[in-house]
Amino acid sequence: MKEKKKRASFSSKLGFVLSAAGSAVGLGNIWRFPYLAAKYGGGIFLLVYLILVITFGYTMIVAESALGRMTHKSPVGAYRHFKKEPRFLKFGGWINAIIPLLIVPYYSVIGGWVLKYLFGYLTGDIKEIASENYFSDFISNGTSVEAWFLVFSVIVVFIIYMGVQNGIERVSKLMMPILVVLAVIIAIYSVTRPGAIEGVKYFLIPNPDNFSWMTVVAAMGQMFYSLSIAMGILVTFGSYMKDDMSIEGATSNVELFDTGIAILSGLMIIPAVFSFSGGDPSVLKAGPSLMFITMPNIFASMGFGRPAGIMFFMLVFFAAMTSAIALAESVVSTFEDELHFSRKKSALILAAVMVILGSLSSLGYGPLAGITIMKMQFLDFFDFLTNSVMMPLAAMATCLLVIRIITVEKIEEEVTKNGAPFKRKIIFNFMIKYLCPFFVAIILFSSIASLLGWITI
Ligand code: PHE
Repeated sequence: MKEKKKRASFSSKLGFVLSAAGSAVGLGNIWRFPYLAAKYGGGIFLLVYLILVITFGYTMIVAESALGRMTHKSPVGAYRHFKKEPRFLKFGGWINAIIPLLIVPYYSVIGGWVLKYLFGYLTGDIKEIASENYFSDFISNGTSVEAWFLVFSVIVVFIIYMGVQNGIERVSKLMMPILVVLAVIIAIYSVTRPGAIEGVKYFLIPNPDNFSWMTVVAAMGQMFYSLSIAMGILVTFGSYMKDDMSIEGATSNVELFDTGIAILSGLMIIPAVFSFSGGDPSVLKAGPSLMFITMPNIFASMGFGRPAGIMFFMLVFFAAMTSAIALAESVVSTFEDELHFSRKKSALILAAVMVILGSLSSLGYGPLAGITIMKMQFLDFFDFLTNSVMMPLAAMATCLLVIRIITVEKIEEEVTKNGAPFKRKIIFNFMIKYLCPFFVAIILFSSIASLLGWITI
């Protein structure tokens, strides 16, 4: 019944870069990166993260985009494309496809938190939003979190159902530059607060004393998450890429943009934490709530706090929305391509999964707080399961596919098609053959070990 459509393609490198950056820049950069950096060692975390991005992250983006462009398919199809694919690699295609389905529900819960704050800045008292228990009162109030989560989810599913990919591209084009300007302004404000300089030092200067094994594990999970690696997104985007585009050039742009925003977010949040709490370690380790507590404090203390708060949460909302849509789009395209469901049916199934899994996460800090999985709240559990367990498996499958079936030479051919440059070829070659599988195996082992309580995260 389904007719073969001509595969869409990006008209320019900019189209690819913007779409990849739109999906890459999201809650991961603004919400997740600063709290992980604060928690896992500051400067040393940043250093490890940067090294990973330019080696490991780079290699995976190149491999996934080349795999997509070579096969013109999304992950499950791309894996199947290679006839002699052994069974364990079929699993690789599917795990790449399932990860976004598990992420998008809890991602939308946090999207709902962002909406609530945006609404708060539009209508409420900005001092109250900065008050001590505002955040914890909110997330433990089941009805309220659930309602905001549902509002966010309905928007995501509606856009997906309408299939307006172009709209998203246009929104990213407009919002991303504003996001950068605003982030710079807030970061400058934040680093010039009294006592903030200690935070700048903590964030930018590596201190080996703060290094722990979990620094590497957390940095690697964050790198996957932030660059949208190991979840099929870049395979799909690569499949829309024309042959005359430079894969390497596009990859570098995405890396730069994504990491730039993450660093700016660190500079917005971490120095402010030092300024307001004097670098109290328990505040630094606050985790997921950091952004929702620190930023309101900054806004309450500055002039123009309300417009700043409105703008900030509006931009976070847009960044989160473009990413949520990329995640949802990849789920729906797998349903359509592999299970031959209509777009409507795919969107409805997506909605059902989002409501079920998302509600567990949204209620996990309130009515369901008594139920934990392996000592984690649902939201933390889904985050851990996808980032620390499934993504390493997905990345491992991609490495094995490249090394054993496609061969590294073929990927190199794809990257250098039409004379495109491949300056980091040596890094790529070495990483994909040796270090990536090794790293990934270690991450997986550490995650499992920490689950079993052998090491503590
Ligand atoms: N990279 C996004 C972020 O940093 C999350 C995301 C992952 C979005 C995968 C799309 C696909 O928030």
